[in-house]
Amino acid sequence: MTILITGGAGFIGSNFVLDWLDSAEHRDETVVNLDALTYAGNLENLAALEGNPRHIFVKGDICDRALIDRLLAEHRPRAIVHFAAESHVDRSIHGPGAFMRTNVEGTFTLLEAARAYWGALEGEAKAAFRFHHVSTDEVYGSLKAEDPPFAETNPYEPNSPYSASKAASDHLVRAWHHTYGLPVLTTNCSNNYGPYHFPEKLIPLMIVNALAGKPLPVYGDGQQIRDWLYVKDHCSGIRAVLARGRLGETYNIGGWNEQANIDIVKIVCALLDELKPSEQGPYSRLITYVKDRPGHDRRYAIDARKIERELGWRPAETFATGIRKTVEWYLANPGWAERVQSGAYRDWVSQQYGGEQASKA
Ligand code: NAD
Ligand code: DAU
Repeated sequence: MTILITGGAGFIGSNFVLDWLDSAEHRDETVVNLDALTYAGNLENLAALEGNPRHIFVKGDICDRALIDRLLAEHRPRAIVHFAAESHVDRSIHGPGAFMRTNVEGTFTLLEAARAYWGALEGEAKAAFRFHHVSTDEVYGSLKAEDPPFAETNPYEPNSPYSASKAASDHLVRAWHHTYGLPVLTTNCSNNYGPYHFPEKLIPLMIVNALAGKPLPVYGDGQQIRDWLYVKDHCSGIRAVLARGRLGETYNIGGWNEQANIDIVKIVCALLDELKPSEQGPYSRLITYVKDRPGHDRRYAIDARKIERELGWRPAETFATGIRKTVEWYLANPGWAERVQSGAYRDWVSQQYGGEQASKA
């Protein structure tokens, strides 16, 4: 048995692949990992899989229909789990084009390839096939302080080019189920944090900047609220939905952990003060308020009762345990963050990996 993952060299995708191949439940399964290795994709995340014949890495683009058709025909996956995306809101504000291409056109291309492949399957293989679309809570827009958290029934009100592109992809997935009967599942998750998080996002940026003695840039008044979930919990939620979710349904995944940005930054600083104190004094001295993000969503919060009720999923980590593990991981892996920032790993990858091959990262 095989599953096809897209975006499995990124933050969440690589955590998902590592956990999947590590679990006793999937011991007989192979992962075909399709990733274009953009700036956000890093084969170093998958270094633990070196020489593992159950991990087949393919450098390629989800907009490449011929490549996807070939992978489906060759590897005959029982499921596609679709992580690949442009994922950073600030980048989407500066350059939305890449978001439309990968998140909208790429998802469309994958859906069409999956439809052709699934349409030709028969019997049990056809009944068991799943297309799992990994999406975000940002499609629901921004909440006011007094609003209840996002439920699956909330209307879509995306506010950034990123969230609009993800909303578009969610709509395509829904339509391919409704019109063609493609067996799809969608999960909409809140802000993840944990190992291998690219340091353009809030938590890893604060860790690497603090350690380098650089300013910790807090947008606007720092009172924007996000719900934070440890990445391994997101991965277990996706596994639960993939295994037992109802076809055509969407499931919100969240950490029951709403926090203001400034409080997150202060927690990270306090942990660093404890684990790697600076001679210059508390890391919070580096907090710097900067210009706000245009169109900045004020609050996200997730009502994750549906996935708990139907599938028995709840996060295993509290924020206190998850953020400690995260800070400890960055302290234990300074070379990873350095190489990601220098971009040197990208040169190495293109030199080392021209095309498809079994994992040697
Ligand atoms: P990421 O930016 O870290 O990784 C994205 C991966 O996709 C990278 O490895 C990149 O190389 C690859 N990719 C980009 N364009 C591609 C293309 N055209 N073809 C093939 N591969 C391509 O993103 P992430 O944070 O790991 O997010 C993964 C998914 O989860 C995304 O769909 C995102 O919208 C969703 N999501 C993320 C969060 C979060 O907090 N990070 C929360 C909810 C949902
Ligand atoms: O909610 C899920 C989404 O969470 C995912 O779909 C996105 O892929 C992911 O990037 C994330 O989006 P956010 O915009 O919420 O994450 P980010 O880490 O960029 O920012 C978190 C909050 O911190 C947000 O309110 C903006 C603020 N921020 C961010 C950065 C990078 C700052 O104050 N300073 C910063 O330097």
